[in-house]
Amino acid sequence: MNLVSRAGDRLLEVEEDCRLCEEVGMASEEGSGSEVPLLTSKDVEKAERRERVACVALCVLLLLNVVGFIGRQREGPPRSEWLGKAVRDAELAAMELCSGHGHVFVDTNEVSADGKPVCECHECFTGPDCSVSMGECVADVDVGDPLLFEEYWKSNPDLGTVVIPGWYRMSYFANDAQRMFYTDALTASIRELHALAGNAVTEGRYIAVGNGAMQLINAIVRGLALQDTDAVSPVVATAPYYNMYYTQTSFLDSRHYGWAGEPEYGHEDSTKRGVQIQLIASPNNPTATIQDVPSDFKGHVVYDYAYYWPHLTPITKAADSDIMVFTFSKITGHAGNRIGWAILKDFDLYQKVSQYVFLSTGGVSHDAQLRATQIMRDVIKSYVGTTPLGSQGIFHFGHEVLESRRARMQAILGKSTRFTLQELKPEYCNFFGKISAPSPAYAWIHCNREEDVNCNEVMKTAGIIGRPGGEFGSSDRYVRFSMLKRQANFEILATHLLNLVSQTCENGE
Ligand SMILES: Cc1ncc(COP(=O)(O)O)c(C=O)c1O
Repeated sequence: MNLVSRAGDRLLEVEEDCRLCEEVGMASEEGSGSEVPLLTSKDVEKAERRERVACVALCVLLLLNVVGFIGRQREGPPRSEWLGKAVRDAELAAMELCSGHGHVFVDTNEVSADGKPVCECHECFTGPDCSVSMGECVADVDVGDPLLFEEYWKSNPDLGTVVIPGWYRMSYFANDAQRMFYTDALTASIRELHALAGNAVTEGRYIAVGNGAMQLINAIVRGLALQDTDAVSPVVATAPYYNMYYTQTSFLDSRHYGWAGEPEYGHEDSTKRGVQIQLIASPNNPTATIQDVPSDFKGHVVYDYAYYWPHLTPITKAADSDIMVFTFSKITGHAGNRIGWAILKDFDLYQKVSQYVFLSTGGVSHDAQLRATQIMRDVIKSYVGTTPLGSQGIFHFGHEVLESRRARMQAILGKSTRFTLQELKPEYCNFFGKISAPSPAYAWIHCNREEDVNCNEVMKTAGIIGRPGGEFGSSDRYVRFSMLKRQANFEILATHLLNLVSQTCENGE
């Protein structure tokens, strides 16, 4: 029975009650002359009046009941009945401080003997409350996991929190009446965020949303390859390139396209080789340099702007390429939310990309869309809102942290001739309105000694795990360190690196 028919039933009950009242009134009138002879006609009148008043009062009461009931259905149950419990659970989880080296989440599973949740500890810490340091811990800086932003969200708890009731967008479609897969709110927030950062043109462009940038990159590559079915389209990138371009393309092993390594320039060799599809990250992962494709390249270009945000690189113009890919992961650090988007000029490609996302993963989780939307809205509000939100905007926070990490890396490695850190120059950033010091997501380091042919192995001897240059199609004389992890991880990295450099210096280098 739905709410409306339940309310309708209550209305019928009230009408019944009123009819009953009338019947009672009639009965007393009938009985007044014969069965209650002691009563005078005045007494009977009074009694009738009282009955009528009682009946009206009862009817009014019942009516108020119905109105209240319908009102409650509109407003939903009082906060204490559903939101209250969700908020209490979230607050209880957040109250567990885990010595600053771990978390209890609402869905943390492990429970101690006394029924308390057991903290999920960060790397290098252990114990039920994560207070035990694991001693000489390895600095694992392999993955570009953007955990540095965790501190921002924890110190600004008024931002980014989302409440998801049980009935939230349950359909396969984000809007079941219109059969839409993306919420309008998400694409609107994406456009607003780009307008705020000034890093991309979105007016008159199509926005396709996917489960992260990597899904979209493959969706785009496939869509482009299907435009040229006579040949296997070569997927190319200039080394050093983001290693996942190669890993994903070869893993998916398509008959329409395949990994072909370095791009070829200057000739339109589509019959022999197929139309090239070049993947290019700008700023680049691993080098953090701004890149462009030379004008004599013939083929499609997919610009990956994962790091083209003010905290990671100076914003010098609004990018306006035909095919642009962005990820939510490196903007706010919510990599696990798996949201990315492609900004496309071509409607046919937009349709192909959307179809790919729909057929491969049934679209994009509505919960993830909601969370991304709310977080983007809060980021925007923290910059343009009338009510100040958060202590500092996330772009300022991210830039400050990464700039100081870069400066420390430079200070440590600058002491040594054995290692060279990639060179990056300060540049004017339109977003900050001033010259912005380098704040790259990665440190790209070269080992200069002749015998150090594998730089990552050299680092491992010092307790540091980076990602070898070879994985980026480059030389293993290079190694990449992630600058994106938590502060504790960066401190361990800095300590180990300083020890390595100090030993090298003691040896006279
Ligand atoms: C250049 C580049 N593109 C894309 C991605 C992946 O983005 P997503 O998490 O949205 O799949 C990364 C992640 O490190 C990256 O470095």
